Amino acid sequence: MPYFAQPTLMRVLGIETSCDETGLALYDTEAGLLAHALHSQVAMHAEYGGVVPELASRDHIRRALPLLKQVLAEAGADLAGIDAIAYTQGPGLAGALLVGASLANGLGLALGVPTIGIHHLEGHLLSPLLSDPKPEFPFVALLVSGGHTQLMRVDGVGRYELLGETVDDAAGEAFDKTAQLLGLGYPGGPALARLAEQGDAYKFKLPRPMLNSHNLDFSFAGLKTAALTLVRKEGPAAAADIAAGFQEAAVEVLAAKCLAALKQTGLKRLVVAGGVGANRSLRSRLDAEAEQKRFEVFYPPLALCTDNGAMIAFAGAMRLAEAQNRGGGFTVKPRWDLGSLAAPT
Ligand code: KG4
Ligand code: ZN
Repeated sequence: MPYFAQPTLMRVLGIETSCDETGLALYDTEAGLLAHALHSQVAMHAEYGGVVPELASRDHIRRALPLLKQVLAEAGADLAGIDAIAYTQGPGLAGALLVGASLANGLGLALGVPTIGIHHLEGHLLSPLLSDPKPEFPFVALLVSGGHTQLMRVDGVGRYELLGETVDDAAGEAFDKTAQLLGLGYPGGPALARLAEQGDAYKFKLPRPMLNSHNLDFSFAGLKTAALTLVRKEGPAAAADIAAGFQEAAVEVLAAKCLAALKQTGLKRLVVAGGVGANRSLRSRLDAEAEQKRFEVFYPPLALCTDNGAMIAFAGAMRLAEAQNRGGGFTVKPRWDLGSLAAPT
């Protein structure tokens, strides 16, 4: 028996702590997103050149409660106004996930409200539904984050079919690693994109891996290696042109595979989600293709492209029927296959 037999007006608290961002949000099933607050740990991890899991966990502990207070204040709500709590249950860093899961389930127990464990990528996948206008189902989704690069067919909440994915590095990982080669620090995706604006994307011809592979899979490791070879050969003076060439190659492959996925499925709606979805070059390329080839493309609001609590609160609101009063027992799933999810009951 679902906890809420017939969910009516509900306020869902969302908690995201899977990696290096602490995100809290309050979503109202009628009024929409009431407030969200975020703390990025980027500055803390930058000096190590990547996320240090133990430091991430400790920082989530420090930030979560102040962010919760901030969200409630902004929403003009108090703890008693929370009807259910959604938290990222996986995939992600085990210790970091445990912070959010413990907070969610502790609060749930104290407030007597149920909790819902959410798949982080489902949060990203559904985040464009927080935009206006929002896409109708079914659609093709390009999920491009620091850890994942996947094309999915989405027929509804929990109805996901994997069409293709990266065989090696994720797109965001390739942006980050190439940015590191160019001395742009961590995570370098946004910095590389900024530098690319000053460069000539055609000065150097970088490879378009798997562009003609006749499937919907991706590969980005070779592109990063090609960038490394260029950096060694051309030196720092060529950094902007290498950044532009890298971005152009990555965007071309991502866009081509999106078009192929639309063709294969016969669908006319594309949704782009995940951190790399904030990339302006990717967006303008897809916008131009959409206009020319007559399909629609949807993005999450820019602030909700990277990790955040709003997408977790929203996914929780879509899965209220699964909300449970767990009595303190819970798990996290550091590895979790998105395709294994089922539609809400
Ligand atoms: O979705 P996200 O916040 O975290 C994961 O779940 O991985 O994505 C972070 C990734 C990082 O690799 C970051 O460099 C990349 O998204 N990213 C970008 C841009 N903004 C964020 N990559 C290219 N261009 C951007 N503007
Ligand atoms: Zn993410």
